[in-house]
Amino acid sequence: MRSYDLAELLLTELHRADSPHANAPLNRRLYHTMRSTILAGHLTAGAQLPSTRDLARDLDLSRNTVMSAVGQLAAEGYLTAQQGSGTYVSDTLPDQRPLTPASHARSRQAEAESTNSRDLSQRGSLLTQSSGSQQFEVQPFAPGAIEFTDFPIQLWQKLQAKYWRSLDRDLLDYGQEGGYMPLREAIAQYLTLSRSVRVKPEQVLITSGTQQAIDLTARLLTDHGDEAWVENPCYWGARRALQSAGLTLRPVDVDAEGIAPSAADWQRNPRLIYVTPSHQYPLGHVMSLQRRRALLTFAASRRCWIFEDDYDSEFRYTGRPFASLQGLDEHAQVLYSGTFSKIMYPGIRLGYLVVPPDLLEAFNTGLYDLYRPGQLMLQAALTDFITEGHLNTLIRRLRVAYQARRDELARRIQQCLGERVRISGQDSGLHLCLVFDPAQHVDDEAIAEAAEQQGMTVRPLSRYYIGEPQQRGLIIGYAYVPTERVVPWARKLCELIRQRLN
Ligand SMILES: Cc1ncc(COP(=O)(O)O)c(C=O)c1O
Repeated sequence: MRSYDLAELLLTELHRADSPHANAPLNRRLYHTMRSTILAGHLTAGAQLPSTRDLARDLDLSRNTVMSAVGQLAAEGYLTAQQGSGTYVSDTLPDQRPLTPASHARSRQAEAESTNSRDLSQRGSLLTQSSGSQQFEVQPFAPGAIEFTDFPIQLWQKLQAKYWRSLDRDLLDYGQEGGYMPLREAIAQYLTLSRSVRVKPEQVLITSGTQQAIDLTARLLTDHGDEAWVENPCYWGARRALQSAGLTLRPVDVDAEGIAPSAADWQRNPRLIYVTPSHQYPLGHVMSLQRRRALLTFAASRRCWIFEDDYDSEFRYTGRPFASLQGLDEHAQVLYSGTFSKIMYPGIRLGYLVVPPDLLEAFNTGLYDLYRPGQLMLQAALTDFITEGHLNTLIRRLRVAYQARRDELARRIQQCLGERVRISGQDSGLHLCLVFDPAQHVDDEAIAEAAEQQGMTVRPLSRYYIGEPQQRGLIIGYAYVPTERVVPWARKLCELIRQRLN
């Protein structure tokens, strides 16, 4: 597209006095204008953008202003920069539409958009720009969802009742910085033994889950506009937390050995690197030792931080769980995060962040002042659950159940779809990833939508990419379907996929 054509398209909108972004800085106004032009289809997929120099000239703006807007759109996946050949409008836009046709999801989206166009801050706009996973129904094969047949509910009730009966008033207070000390001790011991994490109890901070740990880390260790690396494809929760903290995301490719920075990536100076080394989300690869070492050496040379999200490594079906990346770290640059969302239940909202000793004071203060701790009754009950051995028993039981479900699902996929698909990341966790042969040009979004209509929730792999999806496939969770129901549901899902592949 010629520069003055694009400038003409953008100029009226850019200077509209009644625009909701009229008072925003120019780079943000340009960003919003370009983004809505893309979403309205006026700038179509594949269209090449003029150079930032030409565009700056024709819009009568500084080149920095244009580069800032274009850079943000590229980080969010609206534009794709191809080295040496220019910048293009992405073929696949980042999450915009809810996948489910459910009307509540639509109305929430509409509501978010209308609020958005009133007076949200830049941070607020960034946060609400793309849809989150809450718009997916929880039904068979929903990734990340679990069901509770194996959860010892009565035991859990008993442990909590014990504390409510004793009514220790201290447990009704906010509690200490960092959380309930006996729980921090129990987690430190668990992590030392099962995850080879190098940790003392005071380094363990109790969080309300991974999402809070990412948010706190971004707030305390990065500044607006800093570069953060995320795996591409990436966990949507991390992406959105980092993005809304104002970081410039740099999507870094993933291969069978985990995050795979290119030669150009290794030349850069990120401030934070977010990784899932034990079970890459969503592809499921385990980061190789060589890659772990390379990443740690790089982080030491750049003095940047690594955030290790170890969200589901308890469920490893072949061999022992892999040791953590943090356990290899000689320079105290890794922040290690874990969660009870998968082992216990997501609504418990308890997780932990292990921070390097020299950051402890800052993180304790940040956690206390920003979010106020509490829920000590729950933390006390969880401490007993761990120290009395129930957590390990539960993990062992769930591992057996989930492995059986995964086996049934994988068997059915192989029988029904054979060589036409590849299964990735099935050795651990609660989901597997079905990857389609690129030559078949399968529309994973259409399959996910069709599955949704038949009462199943699978997620299109393409949605997890920033920019052009490199692969298409489906993320299929197996923890939510009771073992005896896996076969009929898997048959239904495989049949649906088979029809679309033909
Ligand atoms: C990659 C990843 N990290 C973390 C989590 C859990 O986040 P939280 O502890 O905030 O529930 C999930 C949940 O699905 C996940 O997929």
